[in-house]
Amino acid sequence: MQAGALSGETMGVNNGLALLEEQQQETSTDKSWLGQYRQLAHYFSLLCFLLIIITLLQTLCLVQITLVSQSQSTLQESKLRDATHRLEKLNQSYRLLFSQYPALNQYCPVSNATTGERVCGPCPAGWTLQGEKCFLFSQDRADWISSQYRCMTLGGAVATVRTEEEQLFLWNKAKSLSQGDSYWLGLRISGDGGGWQWSDGSPVEKGPGFWEREPDKTDSRELCGRLTPGDNYRKSWYTYRCSNLLKRICERRRATLQ
Ligand SMILES: *[C@@H]1O[C@H](CO)[C@@H](O)[C@H](O)[C@H]1NC(C)=O
Ligand SMILES: *[C@@H]1O[C@H](CO)[C@@H](O)[C@H](O)[C@H]1NC(C)=O
Repeated sequence: MQAGALSGETMGVNNGLALLEEQQQETSTDKSWLGQYRQLAHYFSLLCFLLIIITLLQTLCLVQITLVSQSQSTLQESKLRDATHRLEKLNQSYRLLFSQYPALNQYCPVSNATTGERVCGPCPAGWTLQGEKCFLFSQDRADWISSQYRCMTLGGAVATVRTEEEQLFLWNKAKSLSQGDSYWLGLRISGDGGGWQWSDGSPVEKGPGFWEREPDKTDSRELCGRLTPGDNYRKSWYTYRCSNLLKRICERRRATLQ
């Protein structure tokens, strides 16, 4: 029985030791859990901190973008105002120019009625450029003197032909326009027996001539010269009574920048 009691005692001690060990083990596991919690909490707060910083940076970025775009749009607005102001000034002087110099309307006719766009050229609208001259082929008919007046009211004279090039051009143009029509040229026989003269008084003989037949010098009628576009441009001037009614070709100098 003694041994039994002893062994029972020993068992009790053993039990107590084991309990202590268990308790000790429990406290050490408690400790390691605590350490892990602390570490997690540490990471977590670090994460939070990073998130806050990122959010702050984002907000800063947004604020900056808004500020920059605002300042850009203010800049653009002021530029637009400036440009509009200058456009208005230009528009004013443009309209002033055209109202004070109506002749500009002839040289810069409106080419697009919708936009009011104009295209400028060296000849008034309806006139055709050839070399240094502009030529106009009329639709209406008149005697030679009236033809000269009508060309003068347009700032020109009945056309003179100084070169073969001009003759060819006028002949071609007359041929393309005419339906069997002849056109007055600035050719006229002078009253004082001085022979054929151009509308500006210069003698015709000085330059090239393109008569169909050399005019009869003894003819005493009041004669002028017409262009009739036939087959040969070198032989297309005819003498004709000045009182006859014909279409006409007017000429004037082309506009220059000088
Ligand atoms: C120029 O002025 C005219 C007349 O006031 C106006 O009709 C036109 O729209 C203006 N053009 C521009 C580009 O401002
Ligand atoms: C005039 O200008 C408008 C706008 O640019 C265009 O649509 C139209 O075709 C033009 N008209 C002519 C006759 O050029």
